[in-house]
Amino acid sequence: MAHRSLAHNGKSGYWIPWSMLFLFPLLAATVLAQEKVLDLTNPADYANQSIPAYITKDNTTADNAITDLGATLGRVLFYDKRLSRDDSISCSSCHRQEKAFSDTAIASTGVAGTTGRHSMRLVNPRFASEAKFFWDERASSLEVQATQPIHDHFEMGFSGTLGDPAFSDLVVKLSAIEEYQVLFKGVFGNATLTEERVGKAIAQFVRSIQSFDSKYDAGRATRNDGQDFPNFTASENAGKMLFTAPPNNGGAGCAGCHRPPEFDIDPNSGHNGVVSKIGGGTDTTNTRSPSLRDLVDANGVPHGAFMHDGSKPSLLSVIDHYNSIPANVPGLDRRLVRANGQTQQLNLTAGQKSDIEAFLRTLTGTSIYTDEKFSNPFNPDDTLPIVVLPHDSAEMTLSDQNGVQSVTLCASGVPNVDYLFQASTDLVHWTSSPVTATANGDLVMTAPIAAGDKKLFYRFAYQAVPSL
Ligand code: HEC
Ligand code: HEC
Repeated sequence: MAHRSLAHNGKSGYWIPWSMLFLFPLLAATVLAQEKVLDLTNPADYANQSIPAYITKDNTTADNAITDLGATLGRVLFYDKRLSRDDSISCSSCHRQEKAFSDTAIASTGVAGTTGRHSMRLVNPRFASEAKFFWDERASSLEVQATQPIHDHFEMGFSGTLGDPAFSDLVVKLSAIEEYQVLFKGVFGNATLTEERVGKAIAQFVRSIQSFDSKYDAGRATRNDGQDFPNFTASENAGKMLFTAPPNNGGAGCAGCHRPPEFDIDPNSGHNGVVSKIGGGTDTTNTRSPSLRDLVDANGVPHGAFMHDGSKPSLLSVIDHYNSIPANVPGLDRRLVRANGQTQQLNLTAGQKSDIEAFLRTLTGTSIYTDEKFSNPFNPDDTLPIVVLPHDSAEMTLSDQNGVQSVTLCASGVPNVDYLFQASTDLVHWTSSPVTATANGDLVMTAPIAAGDKKLFYRFAYQAVPSL
């Protein structure tokens, strides 16, 4: 923070900071700013975030491109604890922004126990050719994935079995909430809430979570992966070569499955020899990994353990695993098996291991952890103040056609939402006529000015969604 200038008070000899003069107004402003408000007439930019030119993979579903308001609705749903049967758990309970949307616990806690696998980071899920999700790829798309945790008896508890309410009960519960009526209308044209729409909106938000401000990206913007990056240390560059080169060429072969520059998993990957199961037993179905970006925080500390079973507490333990893949694991990806039938033994030196580790650390960005548009929109008391009324640059034009005077008022509202156009001569009594915002959120109303009404006041007002 810059140094504050001080004013010298000659009489008393005390130094008084200039800022004291403004202290009280500043305090008031700070307190007000802490109340979070979701402005639906001016949503954050999710649809047109900048994507580096070298990023080419994209698994966006054809009928569910990201829109700013769609992802905004998804953000609200992602953070809303009312999506669990006892109002205690939201998606964000197990996918925490400050942990790259993963969890420090090996098994995360839901409404009725803990998860069978470790929570996954949600980083750049869009920028991958693999369109299936979960460690075992059992969800065919992000849209399908998005409502699975809600159906899960242990996670959010709208399973419709074991005494749980069903998803249809959640539909009834959320349909009664006016914020959702406005949001669904704005995004889908009407307030009807369905599982498909919930899935689409959440998928838009999750798919919008992107991270491209790492040290790696700064280097990749100037060089290809095969060349040394000027902004890397010698160790990071050596680690990059080890990561990308195949084992028969002096490398560790990581890029064969975790493919730069997205670091997404090869859709054809088999499992990597990590086959234990939380709570005991064997699980050979885990063939997907999230992007290897943001494995650690800005200080190089892992967000939690790695792999589906949370069995690797550090990057070094991950590298040690690939350095010496255990023998006799059925179904191991053939890239980890040599011609003689032996499992991979890389014989990396301690220096080479720390080079790979240094390189993996360069894949960590900063904005994903704090970007407000990915953050919890709810206030600590679970309130979600929403702005629906136009507040920016309402434009009024007067026209005169053949002696008939009329006024046109333009403003931006929430797409598809019903408003009232109101006029008054005294600011007390208002006449209203209905007007619906266009699919772009434009509110336009033209009304004749009655002869003799010299002074008129105009405004748009919110009209409640009629109950379904
Ligand atoms: C109780 C903890 C918990 C809750 C609540 C939860 N998740 Fe997860 N999430 C997990 C775990 C654990 C996995 C890995 C599960 C597996 O693969 O079997 C996971 C996996 C995912 C994945 C797959 C990521 C990938 O790269 O394949 C996505 C996406 C996801 N969750 C989104 C959500 C959304 C959206 C919600 C809310 C509707 C949610 N999660 C609620 C724990 C949770
Ligand atoms: C044959 C394909 C393959 C190769 C080669 C490979 N991986 Fe993996 N990797 C996977 C799969 C599949 C998973 C998820 C496995 C699981 O959790 O059971 C994974 C998981 C990981 C994880 C944990 C991710 C997380 O979110 O917990 C890290 C880190 C990782 N790999 C790094 C590496 C490094 C470094 C190398 C090179 C030394 C490498 N991988 C080589 C397929 C591969």
